Amino acid sequence: MSYKNLLVTDADSVRTITINRPDQLNALNRDTIAELNKALTAAEADKSIRVVLLTGSGQKAFVAGADIKEFANFSVPEGKALAADGQKQLFDHVEHLGKPVIAAVNGFALGGGLELAMSAHVRIASENAKMGLPEVSLGVIPGYGGTQRLPRLVGKGKAMEMILSAQMIDANDAYHWGLVNRVVPQEQLLSTAHELAVRIMKNSPTALAAAIRAVNAGYEPGANGLQREIEEFGKCFGTADFKEGTTAFVEKRKANFTGA
Ligand code: COA
Repeated sequence: MSYKNLLVTDADSVRTITINRPDQLNALNRDTIAELNKALTAAEADKSIRVVLLTGSGQKAFVAGADIKEFANFSVPEGKALAADGQKQLFDHVEHLGKPVIAAVNGFALGGGLELAMSAHVRIASENAKMGLPEVSLGVIPGYGGTQRLPRLVGKGKAMEMILSAQMIDANDAYHWGLVNRVVPQEQLLSTAHELAVRIMKNSPTALAAAIRAVNAGYEPGANGLQREIEEFGKCFGTADFKEGTTAFVEKRKANFTGA
């Protein structure tokens, strides 16, 4: 499949999806969101792919936000639909993907860019990365999950400070606030993300998907995360991966997981 605004490459069962509008700092317009939806669906369906990496093209920006030029003249219903469609097509899709998603944050991650990184399961940033939710400076609020996912990652107080001040934080603060898992020099960003992906994909794909569902369940309103964990845990016992993992342990060999 080829895309107008994305580059897609595979290596070692890791699919890297690069948002490729560098002259617009990879801003997320509707076409790009629709393409990301397709690319994520394709990655999930492809049995040869175990982990997805999301990054931005160029050395300056991961994603500098939703495309301001595209929504500047939207009406109230259009604004509401923009948030609803975007959340469904992209941000919730990333968070609930059945394969681990790592965001390699290679520069500015602002507004929808930070919201995209926060939807991923793991975030690694380059030293030059800058993160923020500047929406209130435009007279709007974060609409792609930022008011919910940022407090979960950094706590309500720091999230309020970031959202209300509209100020960016640097990679060092993002690391210390728990917003990103690691910070590395830019030239090591993709290789570090790839190494983590390879480490993750040594594990059972069925267990990885179950773990993502169980962790996410704790953040769903009204859901009982511990109960979901019990159910997901139990289901693992019926998988070929579980048989393989436990048999390989007893036989003192490396497990060969098939994702069944
Ligand atoms: N939407 C649309 N276009 C964007 C964009 C966005 N979110 N962010 C950057 N761009 C475009 C700029 O308009 C410019 O395009 P042009 O050359 O056609 O005029 C191009 O990307 C380069 O950006 P520029 O502002 O010239 O780069 P800079 O280095 O001076 O500043 C930023 C970088 C990230 C600080 C600045 O681009 C910015 O503040 N962007 C908006 C961030 C934002 O508010 N995001 C939240 C949206 S809800």
